[in-house]
Amino acid sequence: MAYENILVETHEKVGVIQLNRPKALNALNDQLMDELGDALLKFDSDDNIGCIVITGSEKAFAAGADIGAMANYTFMDVYKSGYITRNWEQIRQVRKPVIAAVAGYALGGGCELAMMCDFIIAADTAKFGQPEVKLGTMPGAGGTQRLPRAVSKSKAMDLCLTARMMDAAEAERAGLVSRIVAADKLIEEAMRAAKTIASMSLPVIMMIKESVNRAYETTLAEGIQYERRLFHSTFATEDQKEGMAAFIEKRLPSFRNN
Ligand code: CAA
Repeated sequence: MAYENILVETHEKVGVIQLNRPKALNALNDQLMDELGDALLKFDSDDNIGCIVITGSEKAFAAGADIGAMANYTFMDVYKSGYITRNWEQIRQVRKPVIAAVAGYALGGGCELAMMCDFIIAADTAKFGQPEVKLGTMPGAGGTQRLPRAVSKSKAMDLCLTARMMDAAEAERAGLVSRIVAADKLIEEAMRAAKTIASMSLPVIMMIKESVNRAYETTLAEGIQYERRLFHSTFATEDQKEGMAAFIEKRLPSFRNN
């Protein structure tokens, strides 16, 4: 698939996808989302990639779903095509970690896309919000579900009902983003985190992602049991033997993803 709305690069074991519709502040249309899904699944099945970064521009991670494209849709158009989730599902199939590196606006579908990633590193210029209510509609790609889990019901209600934006500092205080960095250091910091992750044992990294995500879907007792099973499984890997031997021998581990 030739990409017209994203730029894709590989840096060592990190796959980087940059949303690239600058004239529309990276508004997310079907074509962009199809390209994003395609690139994500390719990185996910590439043995040489250990972590993926999704980023946008200095001004916008993404200013939401493309309003022009959907303005005249009817109920039947969106219902029959499963609009939004139809081509937003791929990101949830990715088993390797995906980091959102967010500068500028992450609004509506842009905020929802960032929340679908495993964690968010924000530039100090980042602004998050779910302003769909101003358009006479509502979040449709997880905003009313993932935001309350990330920032509490009260703040999610506030953002979704008033359409106000939250700056990076508020987003970090609320737990939506894992860290804030100066805007000119955003990519460097995201790449450092991604390279650290990619230097670990990939199967163990995938188990950790699976286990943390389980916390959102189940009870504490079931989640603990699930975690215990995965923890036990790590003892079946060569990488666990290598990691612990390296510690004891006071050297760096050399993981072989086995
Ligand atoms: N869709 C389509 N085009 C968009 C867009 C969007 N979501 N957001 C911005 N653009 C376009 C603008 O139309 C404008 O294009 P032109 O130059 O051709 O007029 C260009 O990007 C630059 O935007 P502005 O001139 O508005 O830039 P600004 O700096 O003055 O304002 C902004 C920036 C506050 C982000 C403003 O653009 C804005 O409010 N955008 C819409 C945000 C929004 O409502 N997002 C939710 C969309 S609905 C959704 O996402 C549903 C869902 O749950 C999936």
